[in-house]
This record gives sequence, structure tokens and C-alpha cells, in this order.
Amino acid sequence: MTGGKRRNPTTVRTYRRSAQVYDRVYAWKNYRVEALRIRELIHRFGPPRARTLLDVACGTGSHLEYLSRWYDTTGLDASSEMLRVARKKLPGLRFERGSMQRFRLAERFDVITCLFSAIGHVRSRRDLVRTLQNFARHLNPGGLVIVEPWLTPDRYRAGSVHLATSGTPEQPIARMNSSWRRNGRSVMDMHYLVAQHGKVVHWVERHNLALFDVPTQLRAFRAAGLIPRHIPSRFTTKRGLYVATLPGAPAIPRGRRAPQRRRQR
Ligand SMILES: C[S@@+](CC[C@H](N)C(=O)[O-])C[C@H]1O[C@@H](n2cnc3c(N)ncnc32)[C@H](O)[C@@H]1O
Repeated sequence: MTGGKRRNPTTVRTYRRSAQVYDRVYAWKNYRVEALRIRELIHRFGPPRARTLLDVACGTGSHLEYLSRWYDTTGLDASSEMLRVARKKLPGLRFERGSMQRFRLAERFDVITCLFSAIGHVRSRRDLVRTLQNFARHLNPGGLVIVEPWLTPDRYRAGSVHLATSGTPEQPIARMNSSWRRNGRSVMDMHYLVAQHGKVVHWVERHNLALFDVPTQLRAFRAAGLIPRHIPSRFTTKRGLYVATLPGAPAIPRGRRAPQRRRQR
């Protein structure tokens, strides 16, 4: 099946209903190992003794479950449904609602992460730069951004259909994706079939993700005032990672601040 212009009547806003099954659908993903890898990258490229971390598009908070053991974390996401799951799962953590392009928080962070291809939700190259500028605005000098991108145009396979099953024998979940390209973007209809109270519930969520090649993404980071590296990732998705620093002297770790030092805002 390829996508038509009209929306299927059962189509709902992305993540509105799937938030409830997201953790079961992605039970195969090893968030603990990914969080350990992020910690390694922070040690290697981040400011010394990084303390604060903002996870943009944090979803249900699965990376934060581990990252919060080592950092003072905040999670931010545009979806109230995803945040509801995150808050229930991790009641002690701080979560904020906002879009990655426009959020404004009062403080700056040592590290900002944006993982599992959430960055693909930007609308254009201009929007990608605007989003990365917003990340830079929320970083301390010397701070680090880690972005796990969506697929590059050459790796995206349009026209394919995938089936993924998850859940338990009593509460099975089937998700079937059809995919195509439109205006240089990847579009996927994700059909969910979920067992609920002895019935099968069906809905569709349409994902429309930007496809950027590596040079375009590196240029966007530079245009946002960041110094990027593109590195192969040992994450489950093998989509590589962008690790970018904000120039400037890293913050002096807490408790060792010179008394006359002025805040750099
Ligand atoms: C594939 S999920 C990734 C969630 C999480 N980072 C993970 O690794 O499981 C993509 C997330 O991006 C969020 N999202 C989509 N567009 C967004 C935007 N413009 N601003 C902030 N979050 C957004 C969605 O609500 C969803 O939670």
C-alpha cells in the first residue's frame, strides 16, 4: 500500500493513542545500554563534571530513567500523552511540555539530548537550524548536544511494509507500517491493532519525518553556532549520532565558583 492524500478516518495525531503502548512496542530497545553510552560520550566530549541534562522529545522518559541516576535531569516533550506516561513511570523527575523548536526554559544545561530520531519531526532545513539554535540557547558554555538522527535519504526505503508484534499473548500488539516519500520527506502510516478488554482496537498514526543527508545536518549544527561531529553509534538503531559542543569556557563545577565570576547569559 502506498499512502493517499486523504487521511484514513481512523488516523489520530501522532503518539496520541500509541503513548499507551509505546513502552511495550519498544520493549526490545535497550535504554540502559544507550544511557551508558550517552554517559561515555558526555565524559569524552562534554564539559568536565557535567551535572544538568535536558532530554528534548523525551517521550515516555525511558532514557531518563537511567540518566537521572547520574545527572540532574529534565525531560521535555510536545505530547501530553507521552508526558503523562513518563510522569506516572518516573514520579520524582521533572518533565515540561513544549516543542523542540520553541520551548523556553529559565535555565541552561550542561548537556542536551534528543534521541531516537525525534529530530526528524522538524518541518524543514530552516526549522532544523531553528531547533538547534534553541538547543544552543539552552546550553551552558562548553555544553554538549547529542542528537540521534532519523534516516538519511539514501537509507530510507519507501514502498516497504513492516510488521512488528509486541505485548503479551494475552494482550498482543501488532503494528504494520506502510511508507512512502513526499516532497523529500519520509511518510509512514503506522497501523496499530491492540487487544483491549477482549476487543481489537485499530487506529493509524501518520509520521512525517524530514530526510537530511549528513552534510546538511552538519551545516545546520554550524549555523546554530555549535561545533559538530558525526560518529557511528552503538545504539540499537545504527543511525549514527551527532555530538556537538557550544564554544566557550565550560562552567566551573559547583562549589568551586570564583566569587567575582559574572553569570554568562
Ligand atoms: C520516537 S519518539 C522518541 C522518544 C524518546 N526520545 C525515546 O527515545 O523513546 C519521538 C518523540 O518526539 C516527540 N516530538 C515530536 N515532535 C516534537 C516536537 N516538535 N517537539 C518536542 N517533541 C516532539 C514525540 O511526542 C515523541 O515523544
